[in-house]
Amino acid sequence: MQTLQKPTVQPLPNLVPQSGLRQLINWIARPYAYLDECAAKYGDTFTMRMYGFGNLVFLSNPQAIKEIFSDKGTRFDVGRGQDIIRPLMGDNSVLLLDGDRHRRERKMLMPPFHGAKVKSYATTICDITQETSRRWQPGQQILCGDVMPSITLEVILQTVFGLRGGNRYQQLKSLLISWLDMTGSPVGASLLFFRWFQQDWGRWSPWGRVLLQRQQICDLLQAEIEERRAANMPPGDDVLSLMLQARDEDGQPMTDAELKDELITMLAAGHETTAAALSWAMYWVHKLPEVKAKLMAELEGLSEKADPLAIASLPYLTAVTSETLRLYPIAPIAAPRISAQPVTINGHTYPPETFLTPAIYSVHHREDLYPHSKTFRPERFLDRQFAPYEFLPFGGGNRRCIGYALAKLELNLVLATLLTHHSFKLTSDETVTPRRRGVVLATSNGVPLTVDSEVGR
Ligand code: HEM
Repeated sequence: MQTLQKPTVQPLPNLVPQSGLRQLINWIARPYAYLDECAAKYGDTFTMRMYGFGNLVFLSNPQAIKEIFSDKGTRFDVGRGQDIIRPLMGDNSVLLLDGDRHRRERKMLMPPFHGAKVKSYATTICDITQETSRRWQPGQQILCGDVMPSITLEVILQTVFGLRGGNRYQQLKSLLISWLDMTGSPVGASLLFFRWFQQDWGRWSPWGRVLLQRQQICDLLQAEIEERRAANMPPGDDVLSLMLQARDEDGQPMTDAELKDELITMLAAGHETTAAALSWAMYWVHKLPEVKAKLMAELEGLSEKADPLAIASLPYLTAVTSETLRLYPIAPIAAPRISAQPVTINGHTYPPETFLTPAIYSVHHREDLYPHSKTFRPERFLDRQFAPYEFLPFGGGNRRCIGYALAKLELNLVLATLLTHHSFKLTSDETVTPRRRGVVLATSNGVPLTVDSEVGR
């Protein structure tokens, strides 16, 4: 009779031999360069032991990524590995949940972000972009690092929170800007990575201020939720309205605490990420004249009354935004998957409590998938289709970004709207490099542009 043998756990592959503190500092200060160095030395699987974190195995082998993404939430936990963001997102955030609660929360949150619902946000996105850029004059300098976050914040306030003007909207907007700025600065990023900086000594300490502002944001959101419930108004199309109506399998609605934590999660996960990608896209388009020429030829073929959804699906435009997310993916890694038991991935058996980390950036720079990977070449997305474990700017599997359809729509529409209403040039020919803003990677100089002329559509 055959007996089923338990797989024998193997030593962790390719331990990076630097001190944990040095690894952490490299990871915070220069993640892409560090990933390139490690991939060059150790190949597509290696282990970091960063100070304050567990054993992180970085994987960029497509087969390994495919096996990890095929998990339905039974072999790996994810939420409990995200503790550094718990004080910001709140205990009920989908990012921090595992198992049945994670499945339930995703089921309630997904519908507003998919299909016809997400498409209904297209006109709002174009209107916000036009409104933001309406007063720009030829010769004026703009900084994508300022403009893009203001567009993406407005998109979230209108499409997710359902707020357009009014006192509460104004208060919330200025609080959110200041709160996001605190966690996005280099000091703020350190607050996230070094737990001992997380000391609440009241409003005069950086961490105390972060927590106080979070509470003020929650109070405003609570008032909005109560008002919507009490008013018994016909529900709007925004995500909050849809979340208020959502029911789980037992017919239960989301609690107020869940609603607030999820709204803050959407904002934190969806605002800076999309803004950074837009700044990169504007940089590449204006840095590379041949890319700009091809893109403008495609956009010029559109009629003035073109449907925003037709614009959003233009092939070269889509290839430009995909290539933007490939070359410098805004999140360098997906959320680490923590093995709950011994687990075999791509033939290697890992012990429990290993943090298996899909290295998005390193997959995107595999020369066998993306030849001359450091070159911006949108055509690679027209020449072939990549599998979800080969092109993964939004992660994958049961943790795939909930807002990916909204983000893709926003990238294409903001870019197309700006380019069809104005013409720009880069203010300086400085080479832009990636720089950390909190947990995401943005541009080093914010991409200054000079408005050349108004196109006048
Ligand atoms: C260019 C823009 C964006 C990028 C690059 C991005 C990237 C990501 C990545 C890499 C993950 C982790 C996936 C994984 O571990 O497999 C993620 C998760 C998530 N994202 Fe995004 N994201 C973007 C925009 C958005 C937007 C607009 C929203 C919502 C408004 C959003 C909401 C979320 C949420 C809620 C999760 C957690 C999903 C879960 O744990 O189940 N993101 N995103």
